[in-house]
Amino acid sequence: MALRNIVIEGDEILTKRSKEVTEINDRILMILDDMLETMRENNGLGIAAPQVGILRRMFIVEVEDQLIEMINPEIIEVNGVQQGEEGCLSVPGLVGTVERPEYVKMSGLNRKGEKVEIEGSGLLAVALSHEFDHLEGVLFTEKATEIRDAIEESEE
Ligand code: CO
Repeated sequence: MALRNIVIEGDEILTKRSKEVTEINDRILMILDDMLETMRENNGLGIAAPQVGILRRMFIVEVEDQLIEMINPEIIEVNGVQQGEEGCLSVPGLVGTVERPEYVKMSGLNRKGEKVEIEGSGLLAVALSHEFDHLEGVLFTEKATEIRDAIEESEE
């Protein structure tokens, strides 16, 4: 595994829609491994492929001791609304208040190419929604009602 550079807001790659992963090959698995290492090194709760410069539809979320790798995720259900404070590894030093669904259910593929479904509420729903947005080229700063300096270390 290797650390990768995180793409920072202002780079247009973060505004582009990522493409489907057509084949889960060694390169894709290596990118996922690197994403995980990079996310953990930076104390993130999640990371999406475009954040390391790869416009492919995959992300990792690690919340409440649950590690989730999603390839070609699709949202199949959302419910409720919650508001919370979010940050992003691509937007260092800032947080904002963002409205997200309280519950999210997604389907996708795991690294073995098996179809998986994942559902989460609370913080997990926020993380899943936030990372999915990256694949659509959307940063939390577009949705946040109030953006301010981060006072905590925790970032997504
Ligand atoms: Co982010």
